Amino acid sequence: MKSSMRSRLLRQGAILLFSASSASMALAAPVAPAANKVEVYKSPACGCCSQWVEHMQKNGFAVEVHNVRNVTPFRERYGVPQSVASCHTALVGGYAIEGHVPAAAVKRLLREKPKAAGIAVPGMVSGSPGMEQGTGKVPYNVMLFNTRGSTKVFAAH
Ligand code: CU
Ligand code: CU
Repeated sequence: MKSSMRSRLLRQGAILLFSASSASMALAAPVAPAANKVEVYKSPACGCCSQWVEHMQKNGFAVEVHNVRNVTPFRERYGVPQSVASCHTALVGGYAIEGHVPAAAVKRLLREKPKAAGIAVPGMVSGSPGMEQGTGKVPYNVMLFNTRGSTKVFAAH
């Protein structure tokens, strides 16, 4: 084999190796756009749920809405403790999001990636995202929870 040909083959090998490693990087990449995708399980009749969906969309999330008659089975499936239950259950980046959680808290969750099942704003707090039409702003906590039912404050609003 002529040495010029050999070096060309070596070069091609290097290019192949390089493209193989960039291909594996490309495989890892879809995680980022997926983290932007929110799946919401809500009742078709829930107006405040739709308002929260709009809040998430305005903050750059791609929201896929699933209207379901009963949200409870989804809440259970995704490990949301009954103590932090609200009107809708969402999924993003492997976490469960329960209720009227501000988009900023969801972004922080995805950035910090704590060991937890998800975050929740329990109940239906007046003044939380999607609940602005109420009588005023009530202070509330965003709770971090795990599937064993333990919770702790993630953010105060
Ligand atoms: Cu609601
Ligand atoms: Cu809701």
